[in-house]
Amino acid sequence: FGTMKVNEKGELEIGGCSAIALAKEFGTPLYVMDENLIRENCKQFKKAFAQEGMVTEVIYASKAFLNMAMCRLIQEEGLGLDVVSGGEMYTAFKAGFPMEKVYFHGNNKTEDELEMALTHGVGTIIVDNQHEMKILHGLCNRKNQRIDILLRVNPGIEAHTHAYIQTATHDSKFGESIYDEKLGDIIRFAQTSEYLRLKGFHCHIGSQIFEEKSFYGAVEVMVAFLQQVKEQYGFETEALNLGGGFGIYYSNGDDPVDVEACLSTMLKLLKAGAHTAGIRIPKVMIEPGRAIVGNAGCTLYGVGNVKETYGGKKYVFVDGGMTDNPRTALYGAVYEAGVANRMNAQPEERVTIAGKCCESGDIIIHGIDLPKVQGGDIICVASTGAYNYTMASNYNRIPRPAVVFVKEGKAKIVVKRETYDDVIRNDFAD
Ligand code: LLP
Repeated sequence: FGTMKVNEKGELEIGGCSAIALAKEFGTPLYVMDENLIRENCKQFKKAFAQEGMVTEVIYASKAFLNMAMCRLIQEEGLGLDVVSGGEMYTAFKAGFPMEKVYFHGNNKTEDELEMALTHGVGTIIVDNQHEMKILHGLCNRKNQRIDILLRVNPGIEAHTHAYIQTATHDSKFGESIYDEKLGDIIRFAQTSEYLRLKGFHCHIGSQIFEEKSFYGAVEVMVAFLQQVKEQYGFETEALNLGGGFGIYYSNGDDPVDVEACLSTMLKLLKAGAHTAGIRIPKVMIEPGRAIVGNAGCTLYGVGNVKETYGGKKYVFVDGGMTDNPRTALYGAVYEAGVANRMNAQPEERVTIAGKCCESGDIIIHGIDLPKVQGGDIICVASTGAYNYTMASNYNRIPRPAVVFVKEGKAKIVVKRETYDDVIRNDFAD
């Protein structure tokens, strides 16, 4: 993975830093992000999605991993930023991110959040539904402000992924179906609003997708939809956002798409389709999250107890768990791991890596072959860069881990470890 190596002491090295030295310096559990790999991923997406004659934009889906340092990095790499809440928006604002490059999503944005977006100069609001469009119109009227919007539509494509992260089935909570008759009213409303500038549409068909076909299908359905919208409502689209969802490698059997080939085919299909349909699609956007950060991150854990059950199961207990990585418990995600202080040792036994939370489902890896693990070892779980830090919780009042960026042998802390005082910060004893 990225700049991961094994050094001459048999220790895992990430971005030129020894994992063992990182664990000593910053403590465990620790999220370690390979800064150069995140940057390379940004560049790869930008390059692959820049096709002759087409205006394109890569927008980073910040839900995958966000903090102020990450906002800086995304700004430096020249990507847009997708936010879905006041908190994500605030992080971008405070980091000095250019707010005109922010895209504000969400199926239930509050009026406060919409107002905040207008006040902070958010570039585009992705309106989820008819109700939201009316609220936004009213707010803009009150503030005498105009705003660019995209309408989130649901193309009814089922990507082959976990049901919880499918987002575009007909009954999905996101967007309005392209088959729904009320779309006409919504488009007309936007067309006649003095305040809302409807630029086009947005769709997103799911996450951790391995099949190129799903992306190509979305392109085809959306081109047909844009043609229909032009014919029926005389609406000519200026922008089409095709969402994110590019899958990454977590463990054996995962077979991600070749991003460059896939994006290039998507653009070709789009161009050819638009030509045949007699429409123009002046700007196209995509919104990858996981594929930018997933493989660039890993988590270091200290091993505490090891235990063999009466039933013969071997547990390796680590000092974190579902609080820093809920994905195994939530989605049945499968991760790979190694013993970071003895990377050259041969696997000897099958173990279950479990956390310290008071919950039987608090498992990180259900069965993995590792060298004999003992207390004091450091376990590195790979590919935890996406949806781990952002989905972490304080269950059992466990403080959230620190995040470090590593690059060329140097580590810098970008989020400090929570303390027990952080955990009680908002409490009142009486
Ligand atoms: N755009 C929209 C509108 C989305 O809803 C999402 C993800 C993305 C972009 C980015 O998708 P990505 O490229 O990261 O797959 N917590 C789950 C993933 C939920 C994704 C939700 N939406 C997980 O840990 O797998």
